[in-house]
Amino acid sequence: MTTTSDLDVKIDYFLSSLICQESGQNFLATYHDSVLYNSQSIPQIHISLHHFLVIMLIRLLFFSSLFLVNDAKSTVQTLHVQPQYKLPPKSFSASHKFEGSSDLVNLRYHMGPVLSSPINIYLIWYGKWSASQKTLIKDFLLSISASNQSSPSVPEWWHTVSLYTDQTGANISRSVLLAGEYTDHLYSHGTQLTRLSIQDVIATAVRSKPFPIDHKKGIYLILTSVDVTMQDFCRAVCGFHYFTFPSMVGYTLPYAWVGNSGKQCPEVCAYPFAVPGYMGGGGPGALNPPNGDIGVDGMISVIGHELAELSSNPLVNAWYAGEDPMAPTEIGDLCEGLYGTGGGGGFIGQVMRDKQGRTYNLNGISGRKFLVQWIWDPVLKACAGPNALD
Ligand SMILES: *[C@@H]1O[C@H](CO)[C@@H](O)[C@H](O)[C@H]1NC(C)=O
Ligand SMILES: *[C@@H]1O[C@H](CO)[C@@H](O)[C@H](O)[C@H]1NC(C)=O
Repeated sequence: MTTTSDLDVKIDYFLSSLICQESGQNFLATYHDSVLYNSQSIPQIHISLHHFLVIMLIRLLFFSSLFLVNDAKSTVQTLHVQPQYKLPPKSFSASHKFEGSSDLVNLRYHMGPVLSSPINIYLIWYGKWSASQKTLIKDFLLSISASNQSSPSVPEWWHTVSLYTDQTGANISRSVLLAGEYTDHLYSHGTQLTRLSIQDVIATAVRSKPFPIDHKKGIYLILTSVDVTMQDFCRAVCGFHYFTFPSMVGYTLPYAWVGNSGKQCPEVCAYPFAVPGYMGGGGPGALNPPNGDIGVDGMISVIGHELAELSSNPLVNAWYAGEDPMAPTEIGDLCEGLYGTGGGGGFIGQVMRDKQGRTYNLNGISGRKFLVQWIWDPVLKACAGPNALD
């Protein structure tokens, strides 16, 4: 879905990247794997500013449709968003073809490790979280390795991630465990965090026994509540992953941060459960989130994106596309905004809708449903997900 807010953010991001690099302040611009929703990130970042702006202008002229498969009737519904502006998609898809397309993608392995041992997730809840919000996110994490879920399932979605290997041929582990939780409900480092101060949050957590430092198999997932701001949140990122500095935390620990955008920018980071204001009248509006919580349902897909990329590029020297390791395009970035067959170029693709009208593409444990973006498949050389129709 192309939106003006998306374009603003994208252009901002592009320009701020340039500015950061020109002023030599690359340091904070080197955090990888920022998720920004509503965007297709393959070509823009790597092409010239001129082409970038031209593409953005072209995209401004198009409004797209959402395809929904109603699982009760198995009919495909097409919801047009402001169809009066809709032009034939041919010229559009020519420049933005994602699903099934590999010609623009140069995903390469750079010889570093992937997470091939069983993965222990350590959750850090920063700020105020309700029990139901915590349960929802934990149910998603617990679904990744659980058996006995109906297809298309969360483990089937992770299967695509597990196809990535290191130089010894070891695959990313299919075992993802929730190994520990830490609650920082007193906002130990305030309500305005930065890309650097998030490492202080991790340091505080791992110094609190019995929350462990697991530098062999651990990944640390920091989730911030609706009232916490993060440097670049909404403007350029919905989540990111990196690793901690020994000088700050004592160890090099891979971590990911994802924020609840529910109050700050749901139309950016919880899209398509919220849509920009100008699309509200006349169009079909936002899609119903599968668990009734726009902010947290939106976080689930960002968490999936970050976990996939962290596992395949934990030290930012394994799997990514692009020549510049300072601005890699990773396995989630390649499929951002794509949730089903026919997606890409502003289309989320064909997803399911249950009898209550809730939108989803994956089944999880306890009857849960989730809407999670697809991941780049290294074998198919295309974006893939278990709800594919073809
Ligand atoms: C698997 O699911 C079926 C039906 O949902 C249930 O009856 C069965 O007990 C489950 N098995 C396990 C091992 O959880
Ligand atoms: C490991 O990944 C390769 C593709 O890279 C795949 O063919 C193979 O089935 C995977 N092995 C396991 C155990 O998942």
